[in-house]
Amino acid sequence: MPLNQRRIGRPMKSSSSANPKPTLLHIDSSARTARSHSRRLSNAFVDAWLAEVPDTRVIRRDVGINPPPAINEQWIASAFTAEAERSADMKAALSISDAYVDELVQSDIIVMGAPMYNYGMPAALKAWFDQVVRVNRTFNFDPSEDIWPLSPILAGKTLVILTSRGEFGFEPGGIRQDWNHLETHIRTLQHYLGVEDSHLIAVEYQEFGDTRHSDSVARADSELQALVNRLTAQIEVYQTA
Ligand SMILES: Cc1cc2nc3c(=O)[nH]c(=O)nc-3n(C[C@H](O)[C@H](O)[C@H](O)COP(=O)(O)O)c2cc1C
Repeated sequence: MPLNQRRIGRPMKSSSSANPKPTLLHIDSSARTARSHSRRLSNAFVDAWLAEVPDTRVIRRDVGINPPPAINEQWIASAFTAEAERSADMKAALSISDAYVDELVQSDIIVMGAPMYNYGMPAALKAWFDQVVRVNRTFNFDPSEDIWPLSPILAGKTLVILTSRGEFGFEPGGIRQDWNHLETHIRTLQHYLGVEDSHLIAVEYQEFGDTRHSDSVARADSELQALVNRLTAQIEVYQTA
């Protein structure tokens, strides 16, 4: 079984020697660059990961700087046409989707910088999900299934969501728990990325810029290092198992 079909964090006995290098897909979606907290967190995560697992292959996809196109009628018609029957135009309409899905298929761990915009994910990140969650590539559709006709094709991936919010209280039990559409949306969609294990680290109070914000940044940094330590230790376990 290829590494990318295995769950990071679950020691496996099958031959990791066939493909010992993990692949990390690093996605950013903030429209900001140097001042972005979610970018700083995702870069810090990747750096800390590479310090532990230097032979990791990193695939970079920056949808904040290069937003994916919104899907359109041609895209939908093409996605629902059998591959062998697609015209050249149809294939072209799916070419960006194909590239993104190929990147996802190869990845073991997805590190996703995802700032909160209007209580949800940035439009550019939603556009990436729309390009990636695709019939016969990331999910199967079985109309004979009355209740759950969609089933994911991919499996065994780990997702790390690194977010930043201007306000606060979006955690379970927090005063804005019900407004946290970013986390609920991504955690619903992660199923179709083949994610079986996910983690979220957040910076909060960015709009206040006070000590609550600096404390939140420090807390996120220490949570991040702890998560890297935990996940990379599990990789070592399964690579030697
Ligand atoms: C267009 C836009 C919408 C935002 N909407 C929210 C929001 O709904 N809730 C919130 O807490 N912060 C909101 N913010 C603040 C951002 O979440 C905050 O600035 C965060 O740090 C952005 O991520 P970044 O630092 O990675 O760019 C918004 C910021 C922008 C630019």
